[in-house]
Amino acid sequence: MKCALVTGGSRGIGSAICQKLAADSNYHILINYQSNAAAAEETLKKVIENGATGELIKFDVANADEVKDALGQWQENNPDAIVEVIVNNAGITRDGLFMWMSQEDWSSVINTSLNGFYNVTNFFIQKLLRNKYGRIINMVSVSGVKGTPGQTNYSAAKGAVVAATKALAQEVAKRNITVNAVAPGFIKTDMTGDLDEKELVKMVPANRFGEAEEVADLVSFLASKKAGYITGEVININGGIYS
Ligand SMILES: NC(=O)c1ccc[n+]([C@@H]2O[C@H](COP(=O)([O-])OP(=O)(O)OC[C@H]3O[C@@H](n4cnc5c(N)ncnc54)[C@H](OP(=O)(O)O)[C@@H]3O)[C@@H](O)[C@H]2O)c1
Repeated sequence: MKCALVTGGSRGIGSAICQKLAADSNYHILINYQSNAAAAEETLKKVIENGATGELIKFDVANADEVKDALGQWQENNPDAIVEVIVNNAGITRDGLFMWMSQEDWSSVINTSLNGFYNVTNFFIQKLLRNKYGRIINMVSVSGVKGTPGQTNYSAAKGAVVAATKALAQEVAKRNITVNAVAPGFIKTDMTGDLDEKELVKMVPANRFGEAEEVADLVSFLASKKAGYITGEVININGGIYS
């Protein structure tokens, strides 16, 4: 059984990615989530409607022990399963000016995006190398490429994942493993639900926020065999806001 794992697959961009991979590939879809079981179940339902199989795996990507336990248990129960695609999508924001930023707001954002990337990817990397095939896709952000005021924590976390993407890509390229980052601008999800869309679209040349499905289409391509010669890249998907 060949599998694709999507962290933060219960809602928003991650859910759209699960559904798109279900439609475009033959992978069994592993839908990770942290707490919203109802949304995760809804994603699984849509994965099945799109013609694939899938299952839920609950863990907090930021918690190293929890990741090891959950993935270790899953691998033990599925000894023949091979995870070929890893989409490190789980992420959070805790916005605020740096001068007032608490240690907790700094650490939780770094722990989720950056340590989450380490915890999940490191669990699988030796297996991918032995298997001589893999696709690792990291969800970053325009904030991690240009820096966004009010998001020093988030920009740092995503910028670090950009650098890790480029470094790891060079380590594993010989074994047919690609590592790429996708950097969205404003995408309509729960994460951007409280933003003043009318005001912010003035900054976007395309004059609209993007859809989660548009990001999912790009991820699905990067996850496919067709994208084998693209690695170490950061692909912006932001309606022209920045590149
Ligand atoms: N929306 C945007 O405009 C935008 C722009 C640039 C980059 N991004 C990035 O794209 C990714 C997805 O964003 P989104 O807008 O789809 O966010 P969202 O709607 O807030 O959904 C976040 C997802 O991540 C999961 N999650 C959060 N913390 C987790 C943890 N510690 N462990 C496991 N899962 C966790 C959530 O699970 P539960 O449902 O269980 O809570 C949920 O499925 C993030 O990395 C974000 O930084 C988003």
